Amino acid sequence: MKSVASYFRVIAFMVLAFLLMEVSIDSGDQMAIQQFPIIWGVLAMLLLFAIAVEIIAASLRSILFRSLTEEARQRYAAAEKERNAQKFSGIRNWYNKMAGSKPIEEEGEIVLDHNYDGIRELDNKLPPWWVYGFYITIVFAAVYLVRYHIFDGTKQGKEYEIEMEEARIAIEEYKKTAKDLVDVNSVVLLTETADLDAGKVIFDQYCVACHKPDGGGGIGPNLADSYWILGGGIKNVFNTISEGGRDGKGMVSWKNDLKPLERAQVASYVLSFQGTTPAEPKDAEGEIWLDPDAPKPNELPEAVVDSTEAVVTGID
Ligand code: HEC
Repeated sequence: MKSVASYFRVIAFMVLAFLLMEVSIDSGDQMAIQQFPIIWGVLAMLLLFAIAVEIIAASLRSILFRSLTEEARQRYAAAEKERNAQKFSGIRNWYNKMAGSKPIEEEGEIVLDHNYDGIRELDNKLPPWWVYGFYITIVFAAVYLVRYHIFDGTKQGKEYEIEMEEARIAIEEYKKTAKDLVDVNSVVLLTETADLDAGKVIFDQYCVACHKPDGGGGIGPNLADSYWILGGGIKNVFNTISEGGRDGKGMVSWKNDLKPLERAQVASYVLSFQGTTPAEPKDAEGEIWLDPDAPKPNELPEAVVDSTEAVVTGID
């Protein structure tokens, strides 16, 4: 018993020391113990210290006990027994009250006359914990009935919708702070001036050498016409910039140099060339690109009519 108690004391002491350090040391969002690994060392010292104190206290007690006379030892043992009996008496009383059973000495008062082969029955009261639980269910049922069957409480379906709506708003919020998460599946054409300006800065820095500042083309193809070698539209353009062009053509993958958001910005900027006329446009290469999601155009774009080279798709 004594040694079990001392284990508990040591553990409680360590937990307390740990919590005190976490509370009192300013360590930002991290736990103090992560930020300052030396705390492990401090805790180890404290543990040794606590164990030493327990050992010293125990040996002192045993030395004192041995120095007692026989009579004093018996008195000590009796006092110890008394102390242990009182321990937790509060909890024990409360438990007995909740269980509602009669102490064994008083059972005679509640024994019934039934007697089957010497087996007799006690007329115990229902245990109070059970009775209170039952009352609580009655109150719950009444509140539930009034709320959902008399007044129009929020039903499950509605609750589901409310939570979905909250989640949708949270996702929108998150996306605003995490624009950098775009990938080829989620990328959309950015139209805000700030994004297009950022795209222009990137384009002027990395891309003009081959595509010209107005997108007219040089080593790389014309980006202002509606012909695309690798596919038009934000998703294809984003993909080309991320993964590069065909092998050996000179268009490298930019995914290690540009962050996802930057690629989305420069892709949107590239698409802003559409419909403009560059100073020295390079001849069209590739195929005219029709957005598969767009409604079918009634007439063909003019460019198709006077192009002889281009492979025209979408006409039978
Ligand atoms: C070293 C020259 C070079 C640089 C620098 C360069 N490109 Fe290219 N780019 C090319 C070539 C060559 C192609 C054609 C690739 C092919 O045919 O597969 C191309 C193709 C493209 C295409 C596809 C065009 C189509 O018709 O499908 C896009 C979009 C594009 N580049 C955007 C960019 C952007 C944005 C940058 C800057 C981040 C950039 N390029 C930098 C040479 C370059």
